[in-house]
Amino acid sequence: MRASMFVPAMLATAFTAFNKTCDVQPSPPKLSYLITVFATETPPIIVGNGGYGTRIFIPITGGSFSGPELQGSVLGVGGDWGNYDATGTVFSPDAKIVLQTDDGAQILISGRGRSPYITFDLETGSENYSWLNSVIGVGSIQVGDNNITVNLFRCSALAALLPSKISFPGSLGYNASLTSYYSAQAAAVHPACIVSPTSSADVSKAVKTLTRLDCDFAIRAGYDQRQR
Ligand SMILES: *[C@@H]1O[C@H](CO)[C@@H](O)[C@H](O)[C@H]1NC(C)=O
Ligand SMILES: *[C@@H]1O[C@H](CO)[C@@H](O)[C@H](O)[C@H]1NC(C)=O
Ligand SMILES: *[C@@H]1O[C@H](CO)[C@@H](O)[C@H](O)[C@H]1NC(C)=O
Ligand SMILES: *[C@@H]1O[C@H](CO)[C@@H](O)[C@H](O)[C@H]1NC(C)=O
Repeated sequence: MRASMFVPAMLATAFTAFNKTCDVQPSPPKLSYLITVFATETPPIIVGNGGYGTRIFIPITGGSFSGPELQGSVLGVGGDWGNYDATGTVFSPDAKIVLQTDDGAQILISGRGRSPYITFDLETGSENYSWLNSVIGVGSIQVGDNNITVNLFRCSALAALLPSKISFPGSLGYNASLTSYYSAQAAAVHPACIVSPTSSADVSKAVKTLTRLDCDFAIRAGYDQRQR
């Protein structure tokens, strides 16, 4: 049986924002919390200006990380070889950090940006964490005394998990799902997105993600409608 899942609204205000802006500008991607990384560092090694501003290297010596879906330690390798611009005021981080999860997986984070923000992606060969390989996101950095704290947020969690099974307002798939909806009352709702899972594994992924994001959603599966 093919189920279709409705996500009526993250919040009423999200719809208001969408209605106001959909004609003039695209909606920004949604972010969801991934992890907080706390890393200890040595004082910076000054490499100097070889033509790209003042290059420094900040070795990472260890630390820890945690979030709703993964936690563990920061390995004492890698670092940040970012540089200051010619004015000495804009720092552009360029970092690689290796995480080790509590259950033994290694994850490489690569991040670049303009302090205090970075964009990042992740890389791991672990099957259990392979979903991280499709994640990109943004992070905000807090610099401490020989340590940094980085909060990492990822883009469009559902779209990353179920790439071909999610449709957003304005698309053909979205319209088709909406017009096929059996209840006139429910059809008056304009969901933020519609998930069309094709297996129970998809349903489980979507429900986990939606629950974690704490958004309201409704499920349509035949005539059995559950609401949360
Ligand atoms: C948003 O647009 C839909 C469809 O055009 C409409 O039914 C709904 O009332 C609007 N919501 C708000 C908050 O303006
Ligand atoms: C992957 O997760 C499953 C289920 O939680 C667990 O049994 C298994 O040991 C994990 N695999 C590794 C390599 O950690
Ligand atoms: C990290 O830096 C902060 C701010 O300077 C400092 O208060 C804190 O003690 C440091 N934490 C560790 C574990 O080094
Ligand atoms: C979806 O429906 C909207 C509103 O009825 C319409 O403006 C839009 O062109 C449709 N999009 C597609 C791809 O059919």
